[in-house]
Amino acid sequence: MAERKADDSPFPSFLGLSVFYWKSLPFCLILRKIINVMLKEKINNLLAEIEKLKAENADQIEALRIKYLSKKGEISALFDEFRTVSPEQKKELGQLLNKLKTDATNRINEMKESFSDKLGAVADLDLTRTPDPIELGTRHPISLVRNKIVDIFSRQGFVVADGPEVEDDWHVFSSLNFAPEHPARDMQDTFFITRDPDVLLRTHTSCVQSRVMMKQKPPIRVLCPGRVYRNEAISARAHCFFHQVEGLYIDKNVSFADLKQALLFFAKEMFGEETKIRLRPSYFPFTEPSAEMDISCDLCGGKGCSFCKGSGWVEILGCGMVDPNVLENCGIDSKVYSGFAFGMGVERITNLKYKVKDLRMFSENDTRFLDEFKSAF
Ligand code: DAH
Repeated sequence: MAERKADDSPFPSFLGLSVFYWKSLPFCLILRKIINVMLKEKINNLLAEIEKLKAENADQIEALRIKYLSKKGEISALFDEFRTVSPEQKKELGQLLNKLKTDATNRINEMKESFSDKLGAVADLDLTRTPDPIELGTRHPISLVRNKIVDIFSRQGFVVADGPEVEDDWHVFSSLNFAPEHPARDMQDTFFITRDPDVLLRTHTSCVQSRVMMKQKPPIRVLCPGRVYRNEAISARAHCFFHQVEGLYIDKNVSFADLKQALLFFAKEMFGEETKIRLRPSYFPFTEPSAEMDISCDLCGGKGCSFCKGSGWVEILGCGMVDPNVLENCGIDSKVYSGFAFGMGVERITNLKYKVKDLRMFSENDTRFLDEFKSAF
């Protein structure tokens, strides 16, 4: 019989095995050994894979069960392969394969349990239970009063304008006709930035007037609410910051009568229909003529009491006709246009409305104080 060459091998030429002459070597033994090694490796790989199994829902768990444990699953396939294992390897590989099956079953059951725990927790939720009461906050009294002021003037056609709290000398003082030696420019009254004397914290919201006039052509009808700063010692009656609302109306033929009418409407809306106003001559650098406005004391109805110090009147704001110098400084022709302005402290109006005795209460965030305004909300 002619000698058979490796090329004539009836085995497929894989793993380089065809180099062996199948009859001249214990070929089957070697092949079995290789199959055993490969099977062991597959089992070990699956063992590692099973340890890391994760699923997010019941469907995913079921998909994993089918992948590993069903009749056509990966572990059943390994049991099929196991049949070809040599008898001396059967014990070791058999134990390993059984361990794989138990581990996979345990891991999948574990995932099922933890998932049903979660389902259980959701099922325990009683959505019909009344929730624990959540404390409702209140609007700050300063915000309440500020909003009321804005509301009253917006019904007279005023719109809100805004400006920065850190300002420069020109907008706060020079444009508004303050003389260079005016005491308000003094360090004792104004917070300046030490490195640049031109930068300061605004002492009033009147500076928003000049910003608006520089940008906008008349007619102008703006309301400028905001926080202002003054170098004052903090006490029950003074603070280093407080809030103002400034009003400005510029058009052709605006008169003092318009100012008086706008303010009377405000006083009645804010303090009640019975409220009377009185205007006393005063001085502000940016208005000419200037006035201070009082309202009749709402505690005694004007008869005189300890609150109004017996006068029957309480002061609430400053006002006047815009000084022509201010109009010209801001690029508005004072021969064509005139206007009125007014400014009030929001804390002052709040004190009058709610009789708050100590100004510090507004910034201390004491909830017992703030809670008192719940009904005003
Ligand atoms: N700016 C003034 C102050 O802070 C308040 C004020 C008075 C504003 C008269 C005005 C005004 O517009 O016309 O004391």
